[in-house]
Amino acid sequence: MKDKDNPMLEVRDLKVSYGAIRALLGISLKVTRGEIVCVIGANGAGKSTLMKAIMGEVKRESGEILFEGKPLPPIPYEVVSLGISLVPEGRRVFANLTVYENLLMGAFPRKDRENIKSDLEWVYSLFPRLKERNNQYAGTLSGGEQQMLSIARGLMSRPKILLLDEPSLGLAPLLVKEIFKELKRINQEGVTILLVEQNAKQALNISHRGYVLQTGRIVLEGSSRELLEKEEVVRSYLGETKASREDLKDRTR
Ligand SMILES: Nc1ncnc2c1ncn2[C@@H]1O[C@H](COP(=O)(O)OP(=O)(O)O)[C@@H](O)[C@H]1O
Ligand SMILES: [Mg+2]
Repeated sequence: MKDKDNPMLEVRDLKVSYGAIRALLGISLKVTRGEIVCVIGANGAGKSTLMKAIMGEVKRESGEILFEGKPLPPIPYEVVSLGISLVPEGRRVFANLTVYENLLMGAFPRKDRENIKSDLEWVYSLFPRLKERNNQYAGTLSGGEQQMLSIARGLMSRPKILLLDEPSLGLAPLLVKEIFKELKRINQEGVTILLVEQNAKQALNISHRGYVLQTGRIVLEGSSRELLEKEEVVRSYLGETKASREDLKDRTR
């Protein structure tokens, strides 16, 4: 793959703190065009902070984020207009708007208004259930349907890369399978994906490569196949009781 040395998205030694809480202690990762990359980590590991830092929603303390070789400005609407879209944790659909209106909100940042109609057809083909519920208020959808809507809304800005923050959260295993299968299809249709998850097994099953994030640090990385073979090791990093006294000392200053 000739793009291998030219990542689409590159995070270099990123540090983020919330006051005295050090959420990211200097993490580096790369996503190449066409890949699905996952970052797996327990609750509190720093996954959402990573997503928000890429989107420009939290302040970076130090480090660099490059997109297509250029520094990514920490300004949310610019990040979106460059071709990055986030499907946030907890879905965040607009409950009092219909499915259709939610999708239009996703298309809001784009300039090529003439393509919105064909992209609506595209997301309806990915998630036919949304088409059936086009005029239904988003607040009345099931959890799984809201997740589908959130992903579809994220796609309506026609991103080059789609970031997803724990799409499996709170969903029954069967639905998680269905949604992850859809992510694979979205990737096959040309959208690069960066996924953060606690659900290591499902995330590794659909991704090409993975990173394990533990209390603000990348502790393991490799092809998803390798990481699945080391499942026990990966699991040990996800153990929520594993955060040692040393880790905690490390994180507050
Ligand atoms: N707005 C905030 N203010 C203070 N601390 C925060 C804030 N958001 C997150 N944190 C802390 O930063 C760390 C990483 O959080 P987060 O990125 O949400 O982890 P994850 O998404 O992996 O569960 C945690 O210790 C969390 O308590
Ligand atoms: Mg989170």
